[in-house]
Amino acid sequence: MSEKRKRQLSLSVFVQQYGTHGRAWRRPEVKAGGNPSFEDWAKIVRTLERGKFDFAFFADFVGQGGPRVRGYGGSPQGNHFEPTALVAALAGATRHIGLVATINTNFNEPYNVARRLASLDHLSGGRVGWNIVSSLAEGAAQTFGVNDGLDHDQRYERAAEFVDLTKKLWDSWDDGAFDHPDKERGVFSDAKSAHPVHHRGRYLQADALLDIARPIQGYPVFFQAGNSDSGKDFAAQYAEVIYAAAQTLPEAQAFYRDVKSRLAKFGREPDDLKVTPGLFFHIGRSRQEAQEKYESFRESIDVSSGKHFFGTDLSAYPLDGPVPTDLPEPANGRGRWLQAMALAKRENLSIRELILRFAAVQGHRIVVGTPVDIADQLEDWFVKEGADGFNLKPSFIPESLDDFVNLVVPELQKKGIFRTEYEGKTLREHLGLKRPPNPFSNRAGVLGNGVSAATPTSASAGHSSART
Ligand SMILES: Cc1cc2nc3c(=O)[nH]c(=O)nc-3n(C[C@H](O)[C@H](O)[C@H](O)COP(=O)(O)O)c2cc1C
Repeated sequence: MSEKRKRQLSLSVFVQQYGTHGRAWRRPEVKAGGNPSFEDWAKIVRTLERGKFDFAFFADFVGQGGPRVRGYGGSPQGNHFEPTALVAALAGATRHIGLVATINTNFNEPYNVARRLASLDHLSGGRVGWNIVSSLAEGAAQTFGVNDGLDHDQRYERAAEFVDLTKKLWDSWDDGAFDHPDKERGVFSDAKSAHPVHHRGRYLQADALLDIARPIQGYPVFFQAGNSDSGKDFAAQYAEVIYAAAQTLPEAQAFYRDVKSRLAKFGREPDDLKVTPGLFFHIGRSRQEAQEKYESFRESIDVSSGKHFFGTDLSAYPLDGPVPTDLPEPANGRGRWLQAMALAKRENLSIRELILRFAAVQGHRIVVGTPVDIADQLEDWFVKEGADGFNLKPSFIPESLDDFVNLVVPELQKKGIFRTEYEGKTLREHLGLKRPPNPFSNRAGVLGNGVSAATPTSASAGHSSART
């Protein structure tokens, strides 16, 4: 695929079985309960594929238990598939769409993750992405019976070493290392194609060779959602898609410029990282209908459940009173919290209004209007470099999603900013991202598919490390 293709909008969905609205599962027409159903999930993802979406995203918050277990029964989040198992099943139920699984770097081992993702990439024909998270929730550590003692920045540091090691494992075989088994000599793969990993790092160690061929995409596509300074640096070094939360165009543009400007120091180009803010939407056949839908969405939000605002208990303050200006900053999620406080100040919001405008949509953008209005609003951010794409948060599944696919996607296609057919095969190709070469293949005599081997040309390609 040409790297010079016309810039295209990317569309994806943060998939939740019933939708993002907290009460989505309680509607009378929804058949809720029972075991998680593969068919229900497959139906959602097939709808996205019909809409030519780039990918479906599956979040995962390990350790909902621990201190949170008491509040847990109120949500269906306690009953959903582990993302990589789900992606494996969905790979067989779809043909084109990318499938992005969240995997935590604190409570996993690089070898297992590298092997699982390589397997998924082969099973799906190169359609897999990895949302790299390091989970700060207290319950997560308790779930695994560990106290890792790592603070926010150290978790990002460990995540960086984790990703470095998984990359080495994926590079531990040349591309095409298993393409030419020699039946006569009884040699399945040339030993020279193997590059065993010897890693001694600050957090991790391994002496290993991966038990599977290098992924079709080289590496799965890396996703991340950092908001802090260390999070954005991590994204600039590793991520190829970053999630963001912004409600206004200037906010989105500032984030866009900030993360893109960080790439150069890691030898990357601005286009190597796509910025995809979250998007809530209310579509009507007329503006009035859309506005009514938005009003009914607001009325259905349980404002009392939002009283714990980013871990801050606001219940001592009157709901319709002003947002206190002297609240302590939370240890985690500081970036979002600052955004919320700035919004409250800018628009002089009450606590109730701040919950409705910000907490209920996790600080994401809300668009309301006809399909043409919504397509115009998306195009505006896309053209003015506030976003390379959007990660949709449909309130109610299936109807919000059906509306977007049936009504808004054709408008975006008419504008020529969104595909009418899948052109590429892999998720990288959908997103216009380069395939990372195996550093061991940067050698004279290596074929395009990487078959043939020698020693790496540079020390950086070596698979030994001794970080202290
Ligand atoms: C759209 C979106 C999806 C996210 N999905 C997950 C997830 O599935 N699991 C998780 O542990 N954290 C998830 N996060 C949280 C981020 O990984 C990260 O911890 C958060 O954005 C704070 O970043 P910071 O620590 O750099 O400020 C998500 C964040 C966003 C904006």
